[in-house]
Amino acid sequence: MKRASMILDRDYRIGRIDPRIYGSFIEHLGRAVYGGIYEPGHPMADAQGFRRDVLDFVGRMGVPVVRYPGGNFVSGFHWEDSVGPKELRPKRLDLAWFTTETNEVGLHEFADWASKAGSEVMYAVNLGTRGPENARDIVEYANHPGGSKYSDMRIANGRKEPFGIHLWCLGNEMDGPWQMGQKTAWEYGRIANEAAKMMKWVDPSIELVASGSSSSEMPTFGDWELTMLNECYDNIDYVSLHRYYGNPTNDTPGFLARTMDLDDFIKSVVSICDAVKGKKHSRKQVNLSFDEWNVWYHSNEQDKEIWKRGKWGPALPLLEDVYNFEDALLAGSMLITFLRNADRVRIACLAQLVNVIAPIMTRNGGPCWAQTIFYPFMHASKYGRGTSLRAIVHTPVYDCADYEGVPVIDATATLSEEEDAVTVFCVNRDMSEDFELNLDLRGFGPMRLSSHILLHHDDTKAVNTEDNPMNVAPCAGPGGTVDGGRASVRLPALSWNVLRFTRA
Ligand code: AHR
Repeated sequence: MKRASMILDRDYRIGRIDPRIYGSFIEHLGRAVYGGIYEPGHPMADAQGFRRDVLDFVGRMGVPVVRYPGGNFVSGFHWEDSVGPKELRPKRLDLAWFTTETNEVGLHEFADWASKAGSEVMYAVNLGTRGPENARDIVEYANHPGGSKYSDMRIANGRKEPFGIHLWCLGNEMDGPWQMGQKTAWEYGRIANEAAKMMKWVDPSIELVASGSSSSEMPTFGDWELTMLNECYDNIDYVSLHRYYGNPTNDTPGFLARTMDLDDFIKSVVSICDAVKGKKHSRKQVNLSFDEWNVWYHSNEQDKEIWKRGKWGPALPLLEDVYNFEDALLAGSMLITFLRNADRVRIACLAQLVNVIAPIMTRNGGPCWAQTIFYPFMHASKYGRGTSLRAIVHTPVYDCADYEGVPVIDATATLSEEEDAVTVFCVNRDMSEDFELNLDLRGFGPMRLSSHILLHHDDTKAVNTEDNPMNVAPCAGPGGTVDGGRASVRLPALSWNVLRFTRA
């Protein structure tokens, strides 16, 4: 058996893990809202029309924050359309996804849903077709106690107490030509700064996320961050990063190595934030909000067909990627990468949550089930809280088309002071060989391996479906031994592993 080793100590720390790195995203897109979280008439719908079976799955994932209402959708969205009596809300053409938005679910309904899901709302404002004025109005509507035009409108619409939305996104992917109201970095930086100032004048307690590049592959990446931050650094708190990966050439080792790119992306944005900080002689640190991440490519052709058959239908089944086992491994490695960068990545949103490039799928009128990527997310969210530890890992490496020196064992660890537990998250990227992982845990005193959770399937393309929802599901791993603070655990070839060490 091949070998790797890991040294951990309670004093080797990266930093506190912000629970918001286990955030997700619901956009008015496809069947995320209509037919996803909301389906009045469904046997599992509650009095407000929210599917209780979906809420149960979201609850299992433990999602502290949900970004809403877009995404590309938000760049043409008028928030006023989505509040007030439902029968008076207009239907609008959504130019982002070529569908018709009925506005049946809006801010009030979504806030109710989020509280049922145990999540906070992270609300995006439209800086595409709109500007600072509308951005400050929605903050007044949502967060001002009363006695002003928009706060009184909220009260008249049935909500006396403010929503108290703490986290706001200043637009979405404003660098992209697909965006309604695309801007240059300077244009965006200026408008983001003015919106930020006015929004914080209305409610100084809020935090703001400026739109970074829509991907590290954008030709403007880097310059976009530098230029726009130069304009708005003082008034914003986070920069957003978005990244989706795919495996269209069926190169599994290369696909699993994509977190090398993810880590580079994060480190580059950190450097740019700190460069602007230095240039401005600022004492403030801007952190990162990785508010769209996932695998996204399976549904691309299907979406073209859907639009060819006809645009403007409500809730077209768009972006319905069916995730396979290797996608779950990459999702696990992406979570490991966020944990390793927990000192700067303070928010991350798995994009998205239900039906649209999602861990949870539903059939209209039918059941819901967990896709493969559901499991690494659920494990990390459940066990990866507390402190991110700086693990020293010795592992063989491999080369692939885009990267050299890819660690075969991709691993990190967290310490929960509350539970006195150490959790190791680990992906074995080896296509055929099991590994023996030797862990040095002597710095923690006597510990025992209380569980080894394993996600593995012999077929990298195995998927979960309505008829076979547990085809790819976690089970107990082979475990190992612990002796005098040294542990040895077997990691099967191509697998996601969660090792829980608790006080002996
Ligand atoms: O999550 C799907 C889309 O991906 C979002 O609307 C957009 O922000 C990104 O391009």
